[in-house]
Amino acid sequence: MLRILKLFFFDFMKEPFQISDDIRKAHTLPGAFYRESAWFDRAKERLWAASWHYAADAAEVDAPGKVVPFVLLPGVLDEPLLLARDRHGTVRCLSNVCTHRAKVIVEAAGSYRQLTCSYHGRCFDLDGRFRRMPGFQEVEDFPGERDHLAQISMEEWLGLCLVSLQPTVGLEEMVRPMRERLSWLPLNTLTYDPENSRDYFVQAHWALYCDNYLEGFHIPFVHPVLNQALDFSRYAYELFPYCNLQLGIADEGQPCFDPPAGHPDAGKRVFAYYFWLFPNLMFNFYPWGLSLNVVEPLAPDRTLVRFRTYRFADAGLQPAEAQLHQTELEDEAVVESVQKGIRSRHYDRGRFSVSMEPCVHHFHRLLAQFLC
Ligand code: FES
Ligand SMILES: [Fe+2]
Repeated sequence: MLRILKLFFFDFMKEPFQISDDIRKAHTLPGAFYRESAWFDRAKERLWAASWHYAADAAEVDAPGKVVPFVLLPGVLDEPLLLARDRHGTVRCLSNVCTHRAKVIVEAAGSYRQLTCSYHGRCFDLDGRFRRMPGFQEVEDFPGERDHLAQISMEEWLGLCLVSLQPTVGLEEMVRPMRERLSWLPLNTLTYDPENSRDYFVQAHWALYCDNYLEGFHIPFVHPVLNQALDFSRYAYELFPYCNLQLGIADEGQPCFDPPAGHPDAGKRVFAYYFWLFPNLMFNFYPWGLSLNVVEPLAPDRTLVRFRTYRFADAGLQPAEAQLHQTELEDEAVVESVQKGIRSRHYDRGRFSVSMEPCVHHFHRLLAQFLC
């Protein structure tokens, strides 16, 4: 009986995630993936613990002693972490959980000389090393390796601190196509623009939001204003191992990039580079700067999308905030409608447009790879 149950469970969890490598033959993810909390839970360790997350801007820990606590994916991973810059200037991501009896150590961002737990006084250096603790004189083999704060993988990219609990792929490998393609841009001048940044709450599964982002197919149907800015006939898709690119080409009279001679995009009127990093980070580069979209699951039918705006120095252009906001509302409306439809008894799986949904297919194949 147990064996039958196990087989049934195995089949239930695994079978639907076979996504053919051949997009012409492939079916989309099954509706159950978006509906069932079992899949949402399965993604916690297999996907979210293994992927890279935006934690903070490096500018938030700009001076020695600066410490910023945060919770990684609240409600999903729920992992208390902190960023700390030590007195030598090195930034690290550390566990924010005391190695004695698990109290959260740092409750508020600020400048610290050391990290002291307010429960029984255990004290750590800013690099996470155990320093001292009262009342532990008789304890044997103490302190040991497990008494230091756990070190979490952290990389800086574009002035952003990106962290991962158990990365299966290095960040550099993931972002290399983006780094190379954009090497001619003044990326090191990007500066956070809080006035043009905001959070959106979407009543839909996080992957439905990503599915929608990963195709420009819907632009003529859903985004009339954006559609006028783009030359839709030249919209293009490119796939890389763990990221992909949608290249939006500007219509006449629209602001656009001017890539230098010899660049793969030289001569193209590039309106935007829409880079997606598996599974939930969107780097949208415009002539004025970067719109970073961080897609965070809250529940199987609720998602937080953080729009963070960064401007190039001397770009001479304002962020197109009103247009981004309008486009976002249009996307939310359609994604929330899909959330209602995905519950239907009459929907299971769809098919892909070969020419216009290669990035959605790419996403579904990567999900199958990580979750099955
Ligand atoms: S839990 Fe931190 S010192 Fe006891
Ligand atoms: Fe859209």
